[in-house]
Amino acid sequence: MPTDLAKGSRMNTAARHYEDLLAEHYTWMLGGDIASLVAAQAELLDGLGLRVSADDGATAVDLGCGPGPQSLALARLGYTSVTAVDGSAVLLDELVAHAEQYDVAQAVRPVHRDIRGVLPHCAEPESAAAIVCMGDTLPHLPDRVDVQELIADCATALRPGGSFVATYRDLTGELRGTDRFLPVRSSADRILTCFLDYLDEDTVLVHDLLHTRRADTWDLKTSSYPKLRLAPEWLADQCRAAGLAVRHDGIGPRGMRILHAGKP
Ligand SMILES: C[S@@+](CC[C@H](N)C(=O)[O-])C[C@H]1O[C@@H](n2cnc3c(N)ncnc32)[C@H](O)[C@@H]1O
Repeated sequence: MPTDLAKGSRMNTAARHYEDLLAEHYTWMLGGDIASLVAAQAELLDGLGLRVSADDGATAVDLGCGPGPQSLALARLGYTSVTAVDGSAVLLDELVAHAEQYDVAQAVRPVHRDIRGVLPHCAEPESAAAIVCMGDTLPHLPDRVDVQELIADCATALRPGGSFVATYRDLTGELRGTDRFLPVRSSADRILTCFLDYLDEDTVLVHDLLHTRRADTWDLKTSSYPKLRLAPEWLADQCRAAGLAVRHDGIGPRGMRILHAGKP
């Protein structure tokens, strides 16, 4: 697969966090069943009106695709080409395996690259029918300016009538005391706990604590990365400033915000 990160381009601390700790456990963290994850994402995107007819030849880009819940859903919804971009080689390899299993490998094009600045390289202006950045990927960007630039790039790459969809957590509110310890998932051999450390109005430091069972004892591995605290109003304003019209802005499953903006 094409790789730019390996050539030493900007690798941020979120990318390192996935490499050091999370990538290997990511699908387990989400429940472990890729089929139900794909079905849920297909239902969400279909509900937002993103289904296309197979003879449309519609193309899509999935920014921060991970193991592919949205890429595989987009292929299922009729997109003939889905460019799936991620900084984690482990997760892209997993996506490729799932795409083969789902018989959509010819539609999904994995790109190992930073999502910042990637769109001009993988989508002609006014070419993409859909660009998605879902599952809380936007807050992984190091700076608000990166979010603004990414949205501006989306507005350029979308064809008229095309859709930009982001799902993300609104971290602007602050949990206090022990409420900042969040049990993410536990099973017989693994426990993932998250601790939120509010640094300032812009940033929360996310500490992941992963316990894995070894014989009759537990190993603990920790890693941290910063997340942006993006306010829904601010994000919707960035879409409007880029020339996109906000079609839906609300709360979805598991408290995740859903933003759907379209190119007029
Ligand atoms: C929370 S996961 C979301 C994955 C998938 N979209 C989902 O809903 O399960 C965030 C993904 O974005 C990737 N990522 C974060 N920052 C990135 C960056 N700057 N460039 C490329 N990938 C990035 C991570 O490797 C990870 O796969």
